[in-house]
Amino acid sequence: MKLSQAILPVAGLGTRFLPWTKVVPKELLPIGRVPIIALLVDEALSVGVKEICFVISEGKEAIPEYFTGHPELEKQLAARGKSEMLRELSKYDEVQFHTVYQREMRGDGHAILQAASWVHSPTVAVLFGDDLIVGAKNGLQQLASAWEKLDDPTAAVLAVQNVPKERVSKYGIIDIDLQASTGRLKRVKGLVEKPKPDKAPSTLGIVGKYLIPRSTLDVLPKAVGSHGGEIRLIDALMAQLKEIPIYGYEFEGKRYDTGTPEGYKEAVKDLG
Ligand code: UTP
Repeated sequence: MKLSQAILPVAGLGTRFLPWTKVVPKELLPIGRVPIIALLVDEALSVGVKEICFVISEGKEAIPEYFTGHPELEKQLAARGKSEMLRELSKYDEVQFHTVYQREMRGDGHAILQAASWVHSPTVAVLFGDDLIVGAKNGLQQLASAWEKLDDPTAAVLAVQNVPKERVSKYGIIDIDLQASTGRLKRVKGLVEKPKPDKAPSTLGIVGKYLIPRSTLDVLPKAVGSHGGEIRLIDALMAQLKEIPIYGYEFEGKRYDTGTPEGYKEAVKDLG
């Protein structure tokens, strides 16, 4: 089983970084010399993905533009003998990029749904724009190797992290079937969106990286939950609990939530 496609939903308004996110997408914030979005694309490429679909909203076109050729700039660099920089700029030449729009902000599942007709592979990686996992292996590499070992194309694997009990209400929390879990791979028997600490079935919270089977994309349109018309990925997965095996993978390494000013600053301090 090989992964070939990844959806990167990056349509969000980035209100926590206003006012400058009026004109610059937060995913283009630099960490060292490259923007966050390039780290996410590199993460997808590191597991063999060759096709990437950005889900953007109007005004965020600079995200796909970052990955397309710039013939005038390349001509000038060639004339100046900047071959190393030219090589660096050609890094994404072989990758197939595609862009779709999310015209209304109706939830993470709604963002993914915009890419549904583009997906032709049995399983697709979904990397949300905010989460970076840094360790001996990146977040998607860890999910992919757990998924390959399962050898079941119907399975979904979600990145999960042990979060402090008082913060469970910020996450989708998994309920684990202990008997069917081994090591870091936890078999999911239930999912609860943003529970109160006393109602949480565990402290394992889902973070923004998933491997989902094609079937989840078919369930998403029906997953309009009780969140004011929003379509959430967790609702679709809840609906599939009895039909497909769902696993949480408790990843190794440190997670940075670059969608918050504090998380971004920490990422720059450690990785920049
Ligand atoms: P966030 O919850 O951080 O929302 O989305 P946001 O709009 O980006 O930021 P704030 O909360 O206003 O500051 C997490 C990820 O999901 C994407 C975002 O772009 C981000 O990468 N997303 C979220 C979408 O693509 N569409 C949505 O409807 C919601």
